[in-house]
Amino acid sequence: MAAPVPAHPRDRPIAVFDSGVGGLTVLHELLVQLPAEDFVYLADTARFPYGERTQEELERFSLEIGEELLRHRAKLLVVACNSATAAALPALQARMMQTTLGVDVIGVVRPGGVHAVAATRNGRVGVLATPATVASGAYVEAVAAADPHVAVTQVACPELAPLIEDGFPYDQRVVDTVRGYVAPLRDAGVDTVVLGCTHYPLVRPMLQRMLGPDVTIIASGAPLARQVSHVLGARGLATQRTGEGEYRFLCTGDPENFRALGTRFLQMPLGTVDAVELAPVAGVR
Ligand code: DGL
Repeated sequence: MAAPVPAHPRDRPIAVFDSGVGGLTVLHELLVQLPAEDFVYLADTARFPYGERTQEELERFSLEIGEELLRHRAKLLVVACNSATAAALPALQARMMQTTLGVDVIGVVRPGGVHAVAATRNGRVGVLATPATVASGAYVEAVAAADPHVAVTQVACPELAPLIEDGFPYDQRVVDTVRGYVAPLRDAGVDTVVLGCTHYPLVRPMLQRMLGPDVTIIASGAPLARQVSHVLGARGLATQRTGEGEYRFLCTGDPENFRALGTRFLQMPLGTVDAVELAPVAGVR
């Protein structure tokens, strides 16, 4: 159901999406840095995982989600999924700008890449990401655009997001899997590691322990939240309300499963989780 139309565009919510609970690591930063804003978060759990989908599929899914979130009167769209950002950001930006609302779209890859270049001291950066994100080369491009002399070692982690989405408790299998993915980064001598999937901050303590205390781990939530704040300021779309805004959730799979896992990961109550069915977008196959 479409939300009622607020009197001014700056009172509309910021929309955020991911394939599952991973994007809650980004929402968490947004809730902390922009407490007065309203948010609507969509989890496409019925089609999780995104990490081994094709570029065409991810583009189609992202456009469908974008249309749905426009129906919720979003003033800005945040792609809190690296796989979807890597595959679909330009298509989504073009589509959202064509709408009558003219909505900006911000993705997670570039803020993390830029932050990694600023953080590295030895010019060697590691990226842990899904197979789709690694294959897209999006992080290699983002780092090269900021500094072409920084070397990037990418590791595709096909099992990691599904293991995290399975939830607690983390067992030895999770530890062994993470250790296997970290090994090539240790061999490459990287001093900075980008968590190139929004699920991975959920195993950050494990990663830091394996990589050692001198390696800087970069998650894109915080730099992305700063970028969101800048866009809202530049467009005159920051809310003028004070206090705490509202947040709500939409889910294409089972809302109860999402609520149970999401509450633990967000470390805040989730409140309403509504089931949503996404419609195909005309002209997109
Ligand atoms: N959290 C997502 C990402 O950042 C995707 C994980 C998945 O669905 O495979 O890539």
